[in-house]
Amino acid sequence: MRREAETFLKLIESARRITVLTGAGMSTESGIPDFRSAGGIWTEDMSRMEAMSLDYYERYPKLFWPKFKELFQMKMTGSYQPNAGHLYLADLERQGKEVKVFTQNIDGLHVKAGSRHVYELHGSIQTAACPKCGTRYGLEYILQDEVPRCSRVNEKGRECGLILKTDVVLFGDAVQHFDTLFASLDQSDLLLVIGTSLEVAPVRFVPEEAHGIPGLKKIMINLDETDDDYLFDLVIHRKVAEFVKEING
Ligand code: APR
Repeated sequence: MRREAETFLKLIESARRITVLTGAGMSTESGIPDFRSAGGIWTEDMSRMEAMSLDYYERYPKLFWPKFKELFQMKMTGSYQPNAGHLYLADLERQGKEVKVFTQNIDGLHVKAGSRHVYELHGSIQTAACPKCGTRYGLEYILQDEVPRCSRVNEKGRECGLILKTDVVLFGDAVQHFDTLFASLDQSDLLLVIGTSLEVAPVRFVPEEAHGIPGLKKIMINLDETDDDYLFDLVIHRKVAEFVKEING
């Protein structure tokens, strides 16, 4: 077995509490493109990023929704399956390790794989809420009309009718569970970062933050190099599912 695989297994075996941070590279081997690799969602058309911003939604909600649905259609259909990487993380829990998965992904694949402590830093594609009355709606309702509106009837018997806001964290929106992520780092003996370019704040600050925590070992599994590779005890530039299949023999 390659040296990096041996080192990886040793670090995993000696860890009891593992904080995992994942990005879109976790799901490319499930058939979902990432954002910044060749063929990535932003790489293909950078203007898409501008449309997926809080500012764009607030100014052009009617234009936002068709673009959002087109961009994230695949993640909404839920027809994608977890890959060996997702399943490996769920299996670590079955081995008795305490594993908290903080994901930037909105594809729901960690939960589908069986991970029991999953925190969606960039929100959820499954729901959307009325910006005025807060009524929340599920995916079926959201997909009914091109532009989903609140159908709650007010005391005067009139429909609210406001255009819903997705529960996905848009650019310019606040990331969720970040305080829980930092608390988890303090209580963990291993940080495992998988499939993220670490381009987006505040996730990009995690390796620096982790670097200052005594006794916290850090592993990065990412196909491409990142500017933070030097902060990790072990860096594996491999496809995560492929690598996991190899170490599982
Ligand atoms: N195995 C390991 N790493 C992979 C794999 C794979 N099979 N496929 C791709 N990668 C790596 C790429 O090399 C890349 O560095 O995953 C990384 C994905 O980076 P991005 O496309 O930037 O995705 P991510 O880091 O999740 O983006 C963060 O930015 O645009 C926002 O909200 C969006 O959640 C997203 C956030």
